[in-house]
Amino acid sequence: MKVFKEQIQSFLKRDCLIEVVPSIDSTNRVVKELAEQGEPEGRVLFAEEQTAGRGRMGRSFFSPPGSGLYFSVLLRPKGMDPLKITVAAGVAVARAAQEVLGLELQIKWVNDLYRQDKKVCGILAEGSFAGGGLAYCVLGIGINVFAPAEGFGALQSIAGALRDTAPDDKVRGRLAAAVLNHFFEIYEDIENSAVLQEYRRRSYLQGKTVTAVRGNERIRGKVLGIGSGAELLLQGEGGETLAFTSGEVQLEDYR
Ligand code: BTN
Repeated sequence: MKVFKEQIQSFLKRDCLIEVVPSIDSTNRVVKELAEQGEPEGRVLFAEEQTAGRGRMGRSFFSPPGSGLYFSVLLRPKGMDPLKITVAAGVAVARAAQEVLGLELQIKWVNDLYRQDKKVCGILAEGSFAGGGLAYCVLGIGINVFAPAEGFGALQSIAGALRDTAPDDKVRGRLAAAVLNHFFEIYEDIENSAVLQEYRRRSYLQGKTVTAVRGNERIRGKVLGIGSGAELLLQGEGGETLAFTSGEVQLEDYR
């Protein structure tokens, strides 16, 4: 555990208070607790395994020991649009995978990362709002670095990994640090339009027919692109243009 932490720290370009634990229910849950206790921005908690990893829309996130990176970052973004944090995190993971492993990942709106048509990373940004703005945000990132020995079980047809074989632990440390380095670089210059351009360039959904799910609504349409506020633009079945700032998108053959 200590080795992993030291590896991450040796590649980090900025000061972050990092903690690594062997097993925990959910790093997002624990960091949320730290946020409520007034801990400052920049606390990062890694777990080698999560027993109740959380996903979006109340789903769970499969987090078996040793094969992935599961971590949460405490942010105090002072009124920032939460969608921008999500975009920043997606682009940061894609840049890190490119830098460390030479991979070209795609981003499925709003923040899943894909390699060869399989999901390899999920991002869950949980915000707490006060006085009309975002008081804090817990940014949780789960990356399947390599496929677990026992496989992905029921998720086998949709889940993938960055690598087919286990890289040495140094690679995980480098990757973790690279995600944090890229994330904070983007976060500190969040209005930089190059990030949205890269998010669009990496879009997994462009031109595909999808069903957007927002509350009880299900709307089928063709993806036109990503708008200036990172909203998803769909052409509905009647030809109308629809914009989504929240919810999620299902592909025809994807749950
Ligand atoms: C999703 O795919 O719907 C989002 C998955 C987010 C998973 C990460 S793993 C680290 C952090 N802790 C959690 O409980 N969830 C996030």
